[in-house]
Amino acid sequence: MRKPIIAGNWKMYKTHAESVAFVKELAPRLAAYTGVESVVCPTFVALAGVCEALKGSGIGVGAQNLHWEAQGAFTSQIAPPMLQGLAEYVIIGHSECRAYLGETDEMINKKVKAALAYGLKPIIAVGESLTQNEAGQTAAVIGGQVRAALDGVDAANMTNIVLAYEPIWAIGTGKNASSAIAQDVIGGTIRKTLTELYGNSVAQGVRIQYGGSVKPDNMQDYMSQPDIDGALVGGASLKVDDFAKLIEAAAKAKGV
Ligand code: 13P
Repeated sequence: MRKPIIAGNWKMYKTHAESVAFVKELAPRLAAYTGVESVVCPTFVALAGVCEALKGSGIGVGAQNLHWEAQGAFTSQIAPPMLQGLAEYVIIGHSECRAYLGETDEMINKKVKAALAYGLKPIIAVGESLTQNEAGQTAAVIGGQVRAALDGVDAANMTNIVLAYEPIWAIGTGKNASSAIAQDVIGGTIRKTLTELYGNSVAQGVRIQYGGSVKPDNMQDYMSQPDIDGALVGGASLKVDDFAKLIEAAAKAKGV
């Protein structure tokens, strides 16, 4: 069985001090839910403090991006070796990075390969815009993003990769995709694409999250879908009580 994974993407929220205080309060709330993998992805400058505060808690830590080069004259960027020991996961290809930082499929593919080379586990985000959705292009766009991100990645690495379906029109808007739509894209397009690329047994082992206006009150609905293995959560991951309720709902829905 695929272990459910819920990751909080804190985006550009919370200072170092706020991040550390948050996880200290969160850890005891999640201690009972060992059947669900919980991950927090704070801003880079809070990674060390959060990592230290979470030692022994079972809660994982992720970064929100990385560069593909190991080092170099790339002002403002963070190289994969800099994340080693601080982050287990790294979000790659978030639609906000594609839109505001000009990240292309090719850059995302390089980042995925660089992360894997340094033992970091990518959470690869894919998602279609509202225009693409309304034009009936969702399957083509999502299938294309998945193939591009995984170009040259071998089957052995797929156990270290998590995918996240985040329709752009559902992020931070309160307009979430219905659980049926999310299941359709995640099972019918993403897992199908993985099957075409790596075969059924590898595809069945890869965890795929939904993201976009996930809240405590809709979490159980998503997690009741057979192909949805977790969530990548923005807004609702910023409050201890909401985050704890998400984990609780996932444990309940999956019976773990
Ligand atoms: P919201 O949960 O705030 O819609 O954000 C989703 C997201 O972008 C997570 O990466």
